[in-house]
Amino acid sequence: MTKPDLAKRPADVSSMFDRVSSKYDLTNDVLSGGLAPSWRVRTRKAIDPKPGMRILDVACGTGTVTRILADHGAQVTGLDFSPGMIGEGIRRHGDHPNITFQQGDATQLPFDDNTFDVTTVSFGIRNVQQPELALAEMLRVTKPGGRIVVCEFSTPTTAALRFAYDTYMNTIMPSVVNIVSSDPEAYDYLFRSIQAWPEQREFAAWLRKAGYRDVAHRNLTGGIVALHRGTKPAN
Ligand SMILES: C[S@@+](CC[C@H](N)C(=O)[O-])C[C@H]1O[C@@H](n2cnc3c(N)ncnc32)[C@H](O)[C@@H]1O
Repeated sequence: MTKPDLAKRPADVSSMFDRVSSKYDLTNDVLSGGLAPSWRVRTRKAIDPKPGMRILDVACGTGTVTRILADHGAQVTGLDFSPGMIGEGIRRHGDHPNITFQQGDATQLPFDDNTFDVTTVSFGIRNVQQPELALAEMLRVTKPGGRIVVCEFSTPTTAALRFAYDTYMNTIMPSVVNIVSSDPEAYDYLFRSIQAWPEQREFAAWLRKAGYRDVAHRNLTGGIVALHRGTKPAN
């Protein structure tokens, strides 16, 4: 069993998520101190799903966000490359009339150009080995004038919060993970990947470089998480 590292080899990342899939959502909720549901609400509000809208949820995992968007009437495709994660999604939400799950790679999206009104990714882009390629693919499959919404861990905005957050990540979290996760070692990678991820303005620059316009972000929980959005030019 190969442990994933910051090289983020797709086979290692995918098999790591296979291993944690059964307890993934429980672990998330516990580790976020109960904040994860509020981050999903903010993500849903930024996307503003409506009947008739086609949405692609990239790196959908077990389909938690996919389900919320579908419950608001949108037609949602959830895509993930981990058979374990998407298998959990199908088991929990596969009978929802507005949801289609598809196994696939974010860097080679199996969809035609200009297909979706909104593409979104929650806590997934950080795990993609070539995130800029995934952003380009998300732009390609978005309709002209359509939007991207990215929810991802980011950088706390004050020194005091950064200190408290680092202390939590380095001391309390490892103990919690040992109790609730099916694969504590996986979370060692997750913590390091968060620390290595670009801060808010740098990630916004990646979105502009990919071709999005009107790029902006909003900090959630003091910047522990950031919600970025952008628009595909109309022509
Ligand atoms: C931390 S989970 C997030 C799952 C879900 N979006 C959520 O908010 O709970 C990250 C997901 O990204 C997926 N992933 C990572 N790289 C990927 C890629 N290149 N293509 C598709 N899925 C990928 C993993 O399999 C995993 O399910």
